[in-house]
Amino acid sequence: MTTMESLIGLVNRIQRACTVLGDYGGADNNAFSSLWEALPSVAVVGGQSSGKSSVLESIVGRDFLPRGSGIVTRRPLVLQLHKLESGSQEYAEFLHLPRRKFSDFALVRQEIQDETDRVTGKTKQISPIPIHLSIYSPNVVNLTLIDLPGLTKVAVEGQPESIVQEIESMVRSYVEKPNCIILAISPANQDIATSDAIKLAREVDPTGERTFGVLTKLDLMDKGTNALDVLEGRSYRLQHPWVGIVNRSQADINRNVDMIVARRKEREYFATSSDYGHLSNKMGSEYLAKLLSQHLESVIRARIPSITSLINKSIEELESEMNHLGRPIALDAGAQLYTILELCRAFERIFKEHLDGGRPGGDR
Ligand code: GDP
Ligand code: NA
Ligand code: MG
Repeated sequence: MTTMESLIGLVNRIQRACTVLGDYGGADNNAFSSLWEALPSVAVVGGQSSGKSSVLESIVGRDFLPRGSGIVTRRPLVLQLHKLESGSQEYAEFLHLPRRKFSDFALVRQEIQDETDRVTGKTKQISPIPIHLSIYSPNVVNLTLIDLPGLTKVAVEGQPESIVQEIESMVRSYVEKPNCIILAISPANQDIATSDAIKLAREVDPTGERTFGVLTKLDLMDKGTNALDVLEGRSYRLQHPWVGIVNRSQADINRNVDMIVARRKEREYFATSSDYGHLSNKMGSEYLAKLLSQHLESVIRARIPSITSLINKSIEELESEMNHLGRPIALDAGAQLYTILELCRAFERIFKEHLDGGRPGGDR
């Protein structure tokens, strides 16, 4: 692994350890919550059924999210991807089931559904309480991704009228954070001028520096039309280039078309398209994943000095907290504090080695 990968990996593990310790690193406003907030994450925003969960799955390269028509995602899902050395066994772990390792991703999907129902009931209600899931794999990049319920304009049968506003506030609470990278998802078969994703992204990120525009369902556009005005930035200009996507259709999902096949079909779609052929190397889920991890890397690189000073502050706080608790520590909380302390020290050490190596600009 490169130094940058190790640093991002540590950042991820610190974020996770802070989460284990309590909601976003403790309800009290200590160094951990500032630390969590200082670390970047990526959230998907868009209307219901615009393809948010499908895009996240493509980035991860695994089938594990509940998808479908209507309101399927009803609680935020904070998904942490941890890169392992190649050859390692891939597995997933939920924060609420700390002693269970999932290697069957169909069971991960089932557990997300069950855990959603446990809090919301088997209704169409939503809850702002996030589900935390970590995936450990040699095939992922170190990233924190957040899947959110879809923005909607009307309540459906069984939902209170207030749900429209509740969803918007919930989504807004994630994307208004300055360290949140916004994946604004709009379906190509609807007018971009009516896109809920773009509307909200524009409000919380007017300069567009942390917004990535993603256009899904290119395959579902009316014959004879195309999305070049959007993809080439003429309809709505963003600082980052728009990325067009072809996810699996509902029929594909019903037929269990797997991720590898879906990615191949997506590549073929762009390569053979008379409309998008000239853009084909800048389209698709794999390209989006690459774009995001490059962006994340540059964000973290720029933030290393402030992250390091927060980490130093956390180390101080942790050490005094540890002294206060005394050893040996029987409490889970004590063990978590210890974990965070160790991770922070590791970050500091690797960062110092990185600087001492005389390559402050990075490892390339
Ligand atoms: P979400 O509600 O925004 O999370 O959307 P989902 O990912 O659950 O997708 C909603 C539905 O749209 C599912 O049936 C998907 O199969 C379908 N879908 C999503 N993206 C595409 C796409 O690019 N092409 C096609 N044909 N269907 C898609
Ligand atoms: Na949906
Ligand atoms: Mg969804």
